[in-house]
Amino acid sequence: MARWERLVWPASDFSRVPTGIFIEPEVFEREQERIFQGPVWLFLGLEAEIPEPGDYFTTFGGVTPLVVNRAEDGRIHVFVNRCSHRGALVVRDLRGRQSRHICAYHRWCYDLRGSLVGTPFRRGVEGKGGLPPGFDRREHGLRPLRVASYRGAIFASFDPHPEPLPDYLGPPMRRMLDRLFCKPIEILGHLRHRVDGNWKAYFENLNDSIHAGLLHRLPVMLGLWSNTQEGAIETDPLGRHAHYYVKYEEDDSALMGPGKSPSGQALRLADHAFIDARDEWGDRVSTDTLSLFPNVMFAQVSNFLITEQIRPKSAEEFELLTTVFGYADDDPDLRLMRQRQVAWLGPAGYVGIEDNEAGNLIQRASRGQSYAHSYIGYGGVGPIGDTDHLVSEVSVRGFWRYYCYLMGYQPQDGPPLDPATWAAEAVS
Ligand SMILES: [Fe+2]
Repeated sequence: MARWERLVWPASDFSRVPTGIFIEPEVFEREQERIFQGPVWLFLGLEAEIPEPGDYFTTFGGVTPLVVNRAEDGRIHVFVNRCSHRGALVVRDLRGRQSRHICAYHRWCYDLRGSLVGTPFRRGVEGKGGLPPGFDRREHGLRPLRVASYRGAIFASFDPHPEPLPDYLGPPMRRMLDRLFCKPIEILGHLRHRVDGNWKAYFENLNDSIHAGLLHRLPVMLGLWSNTQEGAIETDPLGRHAHYYVKYEEDDSALMGPGKSPSGQALRLADHAFIDARDEWGDRVSTDTLSLFPNVMFAQVSNFLITEQIRPKSAEEFELLTTVFGYADDDPDLRLMRQRQVAWLGPAGYVGIEDNEAGNLIQRASRGQSYAHSYIGYGGVGPIGDTDHLVSEVSVRGFWRYYCYLMGYQPQDGPPLDPATWAAEAVS
């Protein structure tokens, strides 16, 4: 039996996760085929990053390098960044503007749709060498992916017939994106870093609202956060994505008042600049995050607006690409506020480094423990659906259920996984 198959899922409520899922290379290889090159939509970036024809950026779908560019007609095309001749990486820059993409190795030339338009020495030299007479450029383009956008967020799929993107997202997720992308945006910058951990431990973290007041001590000590604040978690009908939000306290004197250090000593911020915030939407939502299976978080934390793309590299390592944006009509004070709030998330953020560390702690404890299990029980182990509080890991179980379905894992104590029954279970 293959090693990935030997990992056991004892409970069909997905309250138990086999530890080997985080460290086995064979599991990682299977994820690339079944998930990242399977029937999912992968988030790749924002349309605002490539506003003009010829604008491109390079990114990854799972481990596979991709090119995302805008063609002359304004449409966005995504293709595998691998020359159809001898398989070299064609585009080597992170981003730029080009009318053609030319492979450095033998100068095969592709247009912005990924079609092969130029091949050196096609007829050889003085009748010698060259490509075969029947060579047809149309059969040698770059491999295209399916592309769809929602509110300026670009998604692609390796699957030639994925479910329509709006259906894949589901109504609560679309509402979150409608709010986040309520008006034209402006890219403020990118942050990129690697984490010694497994990409799924990070996804668990995104779907887990309960850790926020436990792992992240600084906002608690400063009186900025508690697990008793008003908030809720919503999932899509299949429970694979999660949206959660937290509201500012009604009485913000409590919010900004002195917190207590673990020793009981009162703490006060000497400089409020990085926690100054504005209620831009007038709905008192201080934190609004959306994790979409399998590779992205969209987040509004105070006035800090980001997408965070997860790029798995191996079972033991992933990269995070954070794209920071604001709105085109920001006033200077608001823009400054957004820039200062980088202190929370990203590679050096007070909260971001702790989330990264949590993934690393799981990785370090997993060695030699493939057949142990972690336990997920906060919020109960009943149907996977919405909750009107934040003391919950329910959407972490939702992530694992869809993961198992795609990977071909079957829980030991239940009937075969059938997504057609999940939506009804969630409301029962
Ligand atoms: Fe966190």
